[in-house]
Amino acid sequence: MNPIDNPFAPGAGSPPPELAGRGELRETMRVATERARRGLPTKSILMVGLRGVGKTVLLDRIREDTEGVGIHTLRIEAPEDRSLPALLAPELRLALLRLSRNEKAKELAKRALRGLAGFARALKVKYQDIEMGFDFEPEPGLADNGDLEHDLAALLEVVGEAAKDAGTALILFIDELQYVDEGELAALITALHRAAQRRLPVMLVGAGLPQLRGRMGRAKSYAERLFNFPEIGALNDAEANFAIAKPVQAQGVGIDDDALLHIVRDTHGYPYFLQEWGKHAWDTANRSPITLDDVRLASKSAIAALDESFFRVRLDRLTPTEKKYLRAMAELGPGPHRSGDIAKILKREVTSLGPTRNQLISKGMIWSPNHGDTAFTVPLFDEFMHRIVPDFESLT
Ligand SMILES: Nc1ncnc2c1ncn2[C@@H]1O[C@H](COP(=O)(O)OP(=O)(O)OP(=O)(O)O)[C@@H](O)[C@H]1O
Ligand SMILES: [Mg+2]
Repeated sequence: MNPIDNPFAPGAGSPPPELAGRGELRETMRVATERARRGLPTKSILMVGLRGVGKTVLLDRIREDTEGVGIHTLRIEAPEDRSLPALLAPELRLALLRLSRNEKAKELAKRALRGLAGFARALKVKYQDIEMGFDFEPEPGLADNGDLEHDLAALLEVVGEAAKDAGTALILFIDELQYVDEGELAALITALHRAAQRRLPVMLVGAGLPQLRGRMGRAKSYAERLFNFPEIGALNDAEANFAIAKPVQAQGVGIDDDALLHIVRDTHGYPYFLQEWGKHAWDTANRSPITLDDVRLASKSAIAALDESFFRVRLDRLTPTEKKYLRAMAELGPGPHRSGDIAKILKREVTSLGPTRNQLISKGMIWSPNHGDTAFTVPLFDEFMHRIVPDFESLT
């Protein structure tokens, strides 16, 4: 089929042609954000899931839904090496400037901008990566103690008051939240808690790897009660079918049932893989409908493409020792695995592997579903490790 018309969109954060299976969650979000706007009790929401399950595109879609009904938003993505205040400050500034155009919120939005100026100035000593322009002089005593936990709470409070006066809400969308430092997470949780106690319309919609849940709990023990943690996972068979069939049919092209079944089975319904398989099946087929033979051929090129992109980018950031640890895990299968079993494969003591395991967790490669258990954050990563290092013994 003509590749120019190919509807599929494999890629980090690339919106899919059909966002399958997420209707219920979008509805939950609609209710939650509307309740926030009305000053009703609402929990912030943190979507957790493995790599490539569609957290980012869902976050962006929910943000569009939210803005569509006149609620204000800001969006940031936490990288591994920047501080939360540095990421948040410039986006808050833009959000407040937008709010200040509302007649009713004007004065409070200006006050919040003063608070923001004090916040950024006071915290710059500690977080040197804060960079932003100031619109107003700080108001002495407002969010300018130089202590993140205190200042962020004070700042979100004035921001919330401004949003409330404007009859709207401000929803913070934060992606890759697991990379935020635990102390900074604690400050964010405290600030949201304070806003919630005062019924101010400020709420967080975040996304991150499964370890996020534990990190939040460690940062503040009451976090579990303050947030909902919906799990974003693979699509079920019907949804996965739909994710492929609908975009194909929308182009006036057919696809055989057994071809569809094969894609669903090979991808295990993981959204990233579905896009990759869909793309390759489309490009492989010479004519409509797409057949089982087309899909069989496409599977090979789809796996090769994943190996070169989705899997490879993650592996390139690791040290040889870290790679070996992952290969040992793969030796045991998809997982999760007991730390003791991994150590046995590596012929090492569990404790001596602790630092490597921690590094892999902080790089977002693995996580711990339960104490002493280790699992990959990337679906089907064990198979990939087998493909690139077929013989484990060759490593030792
Ligand atoms: N509901 C869905 N239906 C079909 N395709 C989807 C769906 N959600 C996501 N995708 C596709 O899956 C791929 C991965 O999406 P996305 O980047 O949002 O995942 P992610 O969970 O944020 O991954 P990471 O943890 O690596 O950031 C994209 O190509 C996207 O188009
Ligand atoms: Mg993402």
